Amino acid sequence: MSGSLLVDGIGELVTNGAGEGPLGIRCDAAVLVEEGRVAWVGPSASAPAADRRIDAGGAAVLPGFVDSHAHLVFAGDRAAEFAARMAGAPYTGGGIRTTVDATRAATDDELRATVRRLRGEALRQGTTTMEIKSGYGLTVDDEARSLRIAAESSTETTFLGAHVVPAEYADRPDEYVGLVCGPMLAAAAPYARWVDVFCERGAFDSDHARAILASGRAAGLGVRIHANQLGPGGGVRLGVELDAASVDHCTHLSDADVDALAGTAHRDGSGTRTVATLLPGAEFSTRSPYPDARRLLDAGVTVALATDCNPGSSYTSSMPFCVALAVREMRMTPAEAVWAATAGGARALRRDDIGVLTPGARADLIVLDAPSYLHLAYRPGVPLIRQVIRNGVVQ
Ligand code: NIG
Ligand code: FE
Repeated sequence: MSGSLLVDGIGELVTNGAGEGPLGIRCDAAVLVEEGRVAWVGPSASAPAADRRIDAGGAAVLPGFVDSHAHLVFAGDRAAEFAARMAGAPYTGGGIRTTVDATRAATDDELRATVRRLRGEALRQGTTTMEIKSGYGLTVDDEARSLRIAAESSTETTFLGAHVVPAEYADRPDEYVGLVCGPMLAAAAPYARWVDVFCERGAFDSDHARAILASGRAAGLGVRIHANQLGPGGGVRLGVELDAASVDHCTHLSDADVDALAGTAHRDGSGTRTVATLLPGAEFSTRSPYPDARRLLDAGVTVALATDCNPGSSYTSSMPFCVALAVREMRMTPAEAVWAATAGGARALRRDDIGVLTPGARADLIVLDAPSYLHLAYRPGVPLIRQVIRNGVVQ
């Protein structure tokens, strides 16, 4: 529906812009939406008239969540692998190949249905922007179709042909890297905004990762990287070297890794150019130690939170769940976690039009069934997202 929309009666508005504290909070506020954008933010009592009105009735309103890390194009699930882990088995990433087999065998429509189902699930939990990776096809055709299908649901699509070396290349990893850098990248790039590599023991080492990310960058893609998830390594520093928008997981960090990230700080004090994206759903689901967000924040590193939604290590699409985990387990304050799940995710995607509710921003808002953002961590597991407005459209 076109025309202006006024959301008024907002008890607590999180803007991530001008306002009180790091979340830019305004009390008794209203937001005017026109043509899919925020047109005005101010006191509810002096709000302009609009074609339509939503009375938030004193509830909290936030920018929609920005989930900057998700793997939605796959078939099957790995519930049995999860059960084995909960009985003591470790997570190694080896199960990725099981999902690759199922994904290759699936039809386009089956993959499309899974992406839509998960995207819808996330939207109902307040996610208005969701990055989607390939990475379970691992042939030229299967990676290209994964990204083609991902691009139907998001503009933030990521080529992850270097998720793992597929079984048919197990003893020829150099050859597989050549395929990824050449024909696979060429087939995937038209549908992708980003390139990513799983840089980890058992997946791709730093030299392979550097070659793949540099090829992606030369093809016009932005760089992001899975780094330091299962153990220490060179992934985070490689990400910084290649001006990655984000280094993701960051579970095992050395002082040199933290220093390298801190060294990407913008001069104006607005945080770091390379964001550390933490994925607590993965530690939850693999029963691993959580990353230390406090250490990164205290060093001045910009932190984002994302779900890592995938059938192996983190089968959740819920950003509120990740916020609650980050607060309870990663030494983040509720305000830091909410910022990281909104503005932080936007920074991890190098976007300034989302994750904030300031004039000119995209009108992506969530109305909570609660008076304050604090309730997202305070009331874990409770469906608190009352209403979602995306691009100015009530969902
Ligand atoms: O981000 N770490 C690599 N990729 C996924 C896991 C994928 C899987 O286990 O299927 C992750 O955790
Ligand atoms: Fe991931």
